[in-house]
Amino acid sequence: MDIKKIREDFPILQGKEEGEAPIYFDNACMTLKPEPVIKAIVDYYRNYPGCGGRSIHRIASEVTAKYENAREEVASFLNAGLPEEIVFTKNTTEGINLVANSLNFEKGDIVLTTDREHNSNLVPWHLAVKRKGIMHKVVPSNEDNTFNLEKFKEMMSKRVRLVSMVHTSNLDGYTIPAKEIIEVTHDYGALVLLDGAQSAAHRKVDLRALDVDFFACSVHKMMGPTGMGILYGKEHLLESLDAFIVGGDTVSSTYYDRSYFLNAPEKFEAGLQNYAGVAGTEAAVKYLKNIGPEEVHRHEVELNTYLTKEMKEIEKVKIIGPEEPKERGGITSFVVEGVDAHDIALVMDEIANVMMRSGMHCVHSWFHAKRIKGSARVSFYIYNTKREVDIFLEHFKNYVEKFG
Ligand code: ALA
Repeated sequence: MDIKKIREDFPILQGKEEGEAPIYFDNACMTLKPEPVIKAIVDYYRNYPGCGGRSIHRIASEVTAKYENAREEVASFLNAGLPEEIVFTKNTTEGINLVANSLNFEKGDIVLTTDREHNSNLVPWHLAVKRKGIMHKVVPSNEDNTFNLEKFKEMMSKRVRLVSMVHTSNLDGYTIPAKEIIEVTHDYGALVLLDGAQSAAHRKVDLRALDVDFFACSVHKMMGPTGMGILYGKEHLLESLDAFIVGGDTVSSTYYDRSYFLNAPEKFEAGLQNYAGVAGTEAAVKYLKNIGPEEVHRHEVELNTYLTKEMKEIEKVKIIGPEEPKERGGITSFVVEGVDAHDIALVMDEIANVMMRSGMHCVHSWFHAKRIKGSARVSFYIYNTKREVDIFLEHFKNYVEKFG
């Protein structure tokens, strides 16, 4: 992986030395966008700005063809069985809401989550408790925030309908043992939904090898446009889901008193779609495929190992999650005794040109349970370098020495 060359693909970094360009360490929230993605989006608006799936003229046909090509590209990237198993959504949140809304839950069905879910994979279950009478139960993690497989097995039963868990946590970068969890869940005849917002862009995700039932992720975290997401579902499961948001292009025909729905994925893609976003999605997936998700993971772990070694030397710094950096992928989330996390992020932006996130990272429930006000978080991606980590460390150490 030639990082210097990669950096040239990102307008905000182009032609600038490290430190001169923003040191962008907020990749768990949003990644930067490379030229091919921007070009694909602009190309749609400039050259074929029509509507897919309806009109039959040349411009519209081009939109439809490109839209379906993008679906095939995504299916191949994640190793889905069929392109029809890929639904384009707005983001991970919408994908999870779709399943929560449309799976035919029965009163008393149990949904299991981990104890550090993003609100996207928590609030929909709170609503389902109220609206559908399901029960939501939380599997507690081990002391070091790793997954407690034994506890999970104890909590599994025939009443569990769905295990809906964050694949890689945005809180600390930890990845759950998804394969084992899926095997145990299937033995009980239940289903698994993985929130892949932080995994799809950072490590190899092979949906068929995992045998996962549903998988949701966001394209803006994989160098693609904002407002684009992906929901994967096994073909027979997508077919069994009720329609969610309905209207134009979800139906084959309607009468005054009834509608006839199309098959998945069309029945879930209501109204005019984000065609420019889908074009950008295809470009992002191709770009990522070209680099190789395994290579992305290797690079992130290398940077994180370096950062962790130095951070452990700083008194008053406590890293959240497993001690081993390789178990936290490209994320280091930490608290500094006596210092507010927002102050760290503000000061690092001001004095070191470092962009990082602070707060509860939409995982309020975990922070509330631990009685922690929030953490500061560094999250890496393919364009980050060791030199950038050094610049951050130099300023951060000085800051903690003075104010910690
Ligand atoms: N979930 C995103 C983050 O962790 C927004 O920053």
